Amino acid sequence: MIVNAAMSVDGKIALPGGRAVRLSNEEDSRRVHRLRAKADAILVGIGTVLADDPKLTVKPEYARGRNPLRVVLDSDGKTPAEAHVLDGTVPTLVVTSVACERVFPHAEVLRLGDEEVDLGRLLDHLAKRGVRTVLVEGGSTVIWSFLRHGLADELKVFVSSQILGGRSAPTLVGGEGVTSVADSTRLRLDRTRRLGDGVLLEYSVMR
Ligand SMILES: NC(=O)c1ccc[n+]([C@@H]2O[C@H](COP(=O)([O-])OP(=O)(O)OC[C@H]3O[C@@H](n4cnc5c(N)ncnc54)[C@H](OP(=O)(O)O)[C@@H]3O)[C@@H](O)[C@H]2O)c1
Repeated sequence: MIVNAAMSVDGKIALPGGRAVRLSNEEDSRRVHRLRAKADAILVGIGTVLADDPKLTVKPEYARGRNPLRVVLDSDGKTPAEAHVLDGTVPTLVVTSVACERVFPHAEVLRLGDEEVDLGRLLDHLAKRGVRTVLVEGGSTVIWSFLRHGLADELKVFVSSQILGGRSAPTLVGGEGVTSVADSTRLRLDRTRRLGDGVLLEYSVMR
């Protein structure tokens, strides 16, 4: 499992209130699309779909390769019908709780878990259908969930040379957070790379 995101120097991944902002530069966008082309699935949470309406596809001007499966964690089935992920151009899986009855014309629905989506069962399901590399692209809450459950192997963070500030701007990792430093997620810094006017930090997540 690879977690990938772009943040400002002050750790924000969006504007105050969660409004979307482009933080990747051209060099980073090329890297992200190449990473997508090598993944079997790209996963985001419903918060990201509602804020960013991402296409989650491989842009031909950046990378060559097939489009991975798109996976959306959406317990209550709130993905808007007009969202790009439901445009029918790429196989898409919307994962809801068992209680959700909504059907999506252009996406497969998998119903798992009582409240939030059960990530362990989701990853088992994906592995059975040959999905090995999942690229987790956010947002803040989903990244927290993957780290908290020890499900992320790698973390790649592009740091753009900007400061956004704002108490309500989401940071790279949200959720409840840890209550003691002993519970923090430990990372091993594998590589740093300058990408244009920003920097890419690549970590392995320690188990
Ligand atoms: N800069 C970047 O690289 C980047 C990338 C992506 C997003 N973003 C930003 O991130 C923000 C969105 O982040 P967010 O934290 O609000 O939303 P999010 O992480 O995209 O989605 C979180 C939602 O997913 C659903 N979910 C279902 N099962 C889950 C599980 N097991 N674990 C976690 N979530 C689960 C929950 O909603 P339900 O209970 O309704 O299912 C949860 O509230 C936006 O501001 C967006 O612009 C930035």
